[in-house]
Amino acid sequence: MFSRITGIGSFLPGQPVSNDDLARRGIETSDEWIVSRTGIHFRHLAENGETASDLGLQASRRALAAAGLEASDIDLIIVATSTPDFIFPSTACLLQSKLGNQGATAFDVQAVCSGFVYGLTIAEKFIASGSHRRALVVGAEVFSRILDWSDRGTCVLFGDGAGAVVLEASDDRPGILATALHADGAHHGILSVPGSVCGGKVTGDPFLRMDGQAVFKFAVRVLAEVADECCQAAGVAPSDIDWLIPHQANIRILEATARRMKVAMDKVIVTVDRHGNTSAASVPLALDEAVRDGRIRAGQKVMLEGVGGGFTWGAVLVEM
Ligand code: UT7
Repeated sequence: MFSRITGIGSFLPGQPVSNDDLARRGIETSDEWIVSRTGIHFRHLAENGETASDLGLQASRRALAAAGLEASDIDLIIVATSTPDFIFPSTACLLQSKLGNQGATAFDVQAVCSGFVYGLTIAEKFIASGSHRRALVVGAEVFSRILDWSDRGTCVLFGDGAGAVVLEASDDRPGILATALHADGAHHGILSVPGSVCGGKVTGDPFLRMDGQAVFKFAVRVLAEVADECCQAAGVAPSDIDWLIPHQANIRILEATARRMKVAMDKVIVTVDRHGNTSAASVPLALDEAVRDGRIRAGQKVMLEGVGGGFTWGAVLVEM
């Protein structure tokens, strides 16, 4: 049994927040620094009380509409998030309730910025096994909640948003051509939120901490390697990929990955300039934008890639 992406949707909360807006809010930074180091001009930030399941709901409704399906048609809901509404129940169960779906399998995936690629791979395996036929895979994040707004080295990098795809069983043509997932927990310390809740109190540090340069080097290496691995598994030459959608962390990471893969930048979908880094939401947000504006067309091959805390990384090669 094959699986195909039949609908995509995304959602960004509120109005774009510029680098100058951040500086005006008292962060000791400048548009020049942020743009030159990251390529980020804007990000979107959720309102107080607006949760990952709220953002995921909007993206999911758009993906279901694009697929021509009702929420009740879905039998598997996977939400990739590192900023869940609650410790439990899962954001997937909360989203299921908001969508009005009953009875589907529903759970969250925690693989940080690789979460969507992990979720899509898991859904593909459920469908390949024959146990499920119509999956909703969502990346939804409110990273603004876990940022230390006094740490200018991290708070300017991230944004909030959600993206969703419907993945359906297909008897004939494969949509997902190959997948590859990896992790190496030895590198857990270079990007983490090293806190927890215990006895009603936060223990440890509840804010995102990052060794930016270590993350940068790691990301560039594994994004190129895993794309290559995925191409080999599918028997597709990297030059035959129509579009590359790496996790949108930083324009310099995207450029370095494309250079290593010998892919021209005009084949790379870039949203980091307007979305910032939306973690698990970044890949489906970028996919949705490029499908809706007509760049990505039916029959084209698209390489989706994630890398993030854990460390985790992975790729999914899709024929649209
Ligand atoms: O999903 C993965 C998420 N992570 C990433 O994508 C991060 C990957 N890493 C990076 O993109 C880069 O490492 C950063 C953009 C985070 C930082 O760039 P960098 O070239 O590694 O800068 P740095 O951390 O070495 O800092 C250089 C200088 C420092 O000043 P001094 O010590 O040289 O005087 C920082 O204090 O830049 C300063 N700085 C800033 N200045 C203005 C750090 N953040 C800011 C800021 N505005 N927002």
